Amino acid sequence: MNKTVKLFLLSSLLLVVAQSAGARTYPKLTDAQAAASAKNYQQYCALCHGEDRQGHVNDNAPSLRSKSLLETGVQERRMVIGYGRPGTPMPGFFDELGGPLSKPEIYYMALWLQEQTGVTEKNISSGMIEGDVALGEALYGKECVECHGARGEGITGTALGNQAMLSMTRDKFIRHAIENGRQGTPMPAFGERFSPEQLDALTAFIRSRATGWEVRKPVLRRPPAVEDYILNPDGDSPDFQLKDGRYVMSSDLHEAMQAKKRMVLLDTRAMSLWQMANIEGSVPMPYYYEDVPQLAKDLPRDGTWIVTYCECPRAAAEHVNQKLVALGFEKTAVLWEGAYGWISLGYPVSPGETRPADTGMLRED
Ligand code: HEC
Ligand code: HEC
Repeated sequence: MNKTVKLFLLSSLLLVVAQSAGARTYPKLTDAQAAASAKNYQQYCALCHGEDRQGHVNDNAPSLRSKSLLETGVQERRMVIGYGRPGTPMPGFFDELGGPLSKPEIYYMALWLQEQTGVTEKNISSGMIEGDVALGEALYGKECVECHGARGEGITGTALGNQAMLSMTRDKFIRHAIENGRQGTPMPAFGERFSPEQLDALTAFIRSRATGWEVRKPVLRRPPAVEDYILNPDGDSPDFQLKDGRYVMSSDLHEAMQAKKRMVLLDTRAMSLWQMANIEGSVPMPYYYEDVPQLAKDLPRDGTWIVTYCECPRAAAEHVNQKLVALGFEKTAVLWEGAYGWISLGYPVSPGETRPADTGMLRED
């Protein structure tokens, strides 16, 4: 934790320096900024986007090294890293949402990803693209549904109907992706087959699905205190029958909660997701916490069950579970269906209050 605080102070200082130098043309990161970003990347992002930024390691997270992505969207990148894409597995990392990244750390990360790819920013304007929405819809139905879903919900491709994505993304960024594809990923470069009118039509159609107006942020809640880590401290231990020796089904977990059984529930998603909504009584222990042995000191060693869960369905939860197993915890389990599955099966979560986020905070200064 201490390190994070130090890093925060260091990077705030560096931001002040960068701003006073009029940092509009993205100066090269200093060695310290680059090293801090590389470390943050491995800690917070590699789980899904891969150690080498190759993408598709977990949850169909996109490649973060395709040329067409990195040459256009410094602004889009800051937004998505800061606020995430609610409704997809991509969590927000901004302090304002529960952290752990500060504004300068997000700026550096957005630039570091670009520097790693060795491309320079093509300045795209924020102007609107006009096009024939009906033509775009027909093309989308034929060419895009297979990967992006009939309702833009995302399958192997990203969720193009996602309101948060659309509200934080410029038309020209979307068109650039359609025209140039995403090198090294399944996303084809449609500029090779489609006319400029067809590319405009697709962009206009996707844009026309944007019914969202605002990004919301949680009103931050305080995680449970150490003395409250154990749910139902006076209850009996649940009798979990684990699938493959590791997984507990949502129905069994729910039954144990109803029967007031003694256990610890760890939410291994990014902090912002815990803040938005979590399974009641869960303790946030994001997959990126480094000092698990230290945190594990606060967990009971008396054979109390420790169940981990994450969004969809298991990558982060298994990551933390493995660390606990390595530390000698014996009664551990991973929630099989994840939080998405839990919710879609109709089990309850405890939602936090939200209010509109001022996304201007991560726009260009
Ligand atoms: C739990 C998995 C997960 C983690 C952890 C995660 N991401 Fe993502 N990320 C995703 C997914 C999934 C998407 C695509 C969401 C969608 O459908 O729009 C995404 C999208 C993105 C995008 C947009 C890419 C594009 O094609 O427009 C960027 C940039 C990004 N993530 C950066 C990061 C960074 C930087 C971190 C670490 C600070 C991070 N992500 C951590 C899953 C993750
Ligand atoms: C074979 C699968 C596939 C098809 C077909 C496909 N895409 Fe994609 N698309 C992807 C993937 C995968 C990504 C994310 C890139 C990555 O994985 O790194 C993507 C990314 C995108 C993005 C960038 C979104 C973002 O979050 O930054 C846009 C825009 C897009 N696709 C539009 C389209 C449109 C429009 C069509 C149809 C004309 C289409 N795609 C067809 C797989 C596909």
